[in-house]
Amino acid sequence: MSSATPNKLTAADIRQMKGRTKVAALTAYDYPWAKLLDEAGVPLILVGDTVGMVVLGYPDTTHVTMDEMIHHVKAVARAKVRSLLVADLPYRSYETLQDALTNARRLVDAGAEAVKAEGGREIGAQVKAITDAGIPFLGHLGMLPQHIVEEGGKYRIKGRTEEQHVALLADARALVDAGAFAVVLECVTPPVAKEISELIPIPTIGIGSGPDCDGQILVTHDLIGAFPWFTPKFVTPRLQTGEAMRQAVRQWMEGLK
Ligand code: KIV
Repeated sequence: MSSATPNKLTAADIRQMKGRTKVAALTAYDYPWAKLLDEAGVPLILVGDTVGMVVLGYPDTTHVTMDEMIHHVKAVARAKVRSLLVADLPYRSYETLQDALTNARRLVDAGAEAVKAEGGREIGAQVKAITDAGIPFLGHLGMLPQHIVEEGGKYRIKGRTEEQHVALLADARALVDAGAFAVVLECVTPPVAKEISELIPIPTIGIGSGPDCDGQILVTHDLIGAFPWFTPKFVTPRLQTGEAMRQAVRQWMEGLK
């Protein structure tokens, strides 16, 4: 009997959504959340390196290791989701061509069906090596959390200056040329995100980049209030899971008295 997931979505399916339907994408780091997102019909699930912040308690994503990513990708892959399962290449895991290929293959061996890394022209050769090896690649431009140290510890909106605007357009083109199937635009000014979306033939998936991207991605913990100590300005939580949990635990403890 085949164990293939029925109607499995591929990177090509996500790419073809451009101009037809908005791409909805959310993060998952474990089996139950992946299953719930899949049952809700989310077409793209990202095992993001945000796992470091919202699950592992690190101050930023630069602490996440390949071994930690592999652990979480394996857990999500066990859910055998219909969604496309994308995994982040963590900080400094794709500095050379060989590292990029080796680590992308390790994520695929753990169950990822595509990989994501941060950057544009400066990682073009790595992206090409990954896509030439048959591994679908999701780009990530704009505010790049793995560069938090170089940015002086601040997450800054991108596209405000003409220099950034021009660089973003060139980076988006470079990712298309290197074979990316879609690109995340994180905290890019909405007019520039719109311009990139109109310029490139692959979907842009925005986060904090306005409504005119071809899709949207969020950290699921932000969407459902499961990391209540910090919520990005651009997210309106649909649930207050953290508070509901505190209340449920208090009620249960009261019942023990
Ligand atoms: O790691 C992550 O969760 C991400 C999203 C915020 C896009 O890269």
